[in-house]
Amino acid sequence: MKSKSLVSIDQCSKEDILRILDNARKFEANPNCKVLEGKVAATLFFEPSTRTRLSFETAVNRLGGRVIGFSDASTTSSSKGETLKDTILMVSNYVDLIIMRHHLEGAARYASEVTDVPIINAGDGANQHPSQTMLDLYSIQKTQGKLTDLNITMVGDLKYGRTVHSLIVGMSHFNPTFNFIAPNELRMPDEQKNFCDKHGIKYNEYTEFTEDIINQTDILYMTRVQRERFTDLEEYERVKNVYILKNDMLKNSRENLRILHPLPRVNEIAYDVDDNPKAYYIQQARNGLFARQAIICEVLNIQIDN
Ligand code: CP
Repeated sequence: MKSKSLVSIDQCSKEDILRILDNARKFEANPNCKVLEGKVAATLFFEPSTRTRLSFETAVNRLGGRVIGFSDASTTSSSKGETLKDTILMVSNYVDLIIMRHHLEGAARYASEVTDVPIINAGDGANQHPSQTMLDLYSIQKTQGKLTDLNITMVGDLKYGRTVHSLIVGMSHFNPTFNFIAPNELRMPDEQKNFCDKHGIKYNEYTEFTEDIINQTDILYMTRVQRERFTDLEEYERVKNVYILKNDMLKNSRENLRILHPLPRVNEIAYDVDDNPKAYYIQQARNGLFARQAIICEVLNIQIDN
């Protein structure tokens, strides 16, 4: 990677991605590898999180480093008016790495411009979630045996879903075909569709979530409608349950189909899907640990032995 921070997946070349995925595979084989001894990482979570924060903190711990940070910004001096710049400069005094989630799009890039300490973007508003993309790519590679030439169907909140925005960029090296299924209010933004056009990526758009589409799919990527991004809660109420995946919708799906979801889920995957062997979202979250160990080593320029 050219930059030592990871703020957006478009910083990563195809070679970078494949190297990080290869290192994630090594960490899956041996997660307790003490390459961070003597180093301290900060997890600054200005927005709620379960998986991202805990898997990053587990990753640092398993690598032998230590973690400071917060998961509730109201307990910090930002509640007294401290600017993001000052918070980043202060934390930079104490640590070797900053992992940050923020509600403002561009916050991670801004942070990376005010400090020399590497920043990992753990999600900035509706913009990017590059570590999620890396674990999604790892999960796709693991379950499909390849990344190339796959049909990927993205369902739900494609407007505010930063994970789908990042995944389009991450998959752009591997000749995917996308199906975008969303209600009109939550369609994939023009920015991402223009990106697909520019890179020759095929995509189709639908408002109906049909078995015909599922049956032609290799990766079914379900997403939550993101209540916290809506300014009009009546609109949220109208669209929140528009697509629900039920087990009987999978009866004619491909053998290799796997269902991914960045989680948390609300209603969009019925609980009867959980026992279907094609449901992969719990293992996907587990893969986050290994992918994040590999990302931490990448930004800190730590070589991983076989
Ligand atoms: N997928 C994801 O970002 O989950 P959390 O919000 O729990 O971190």
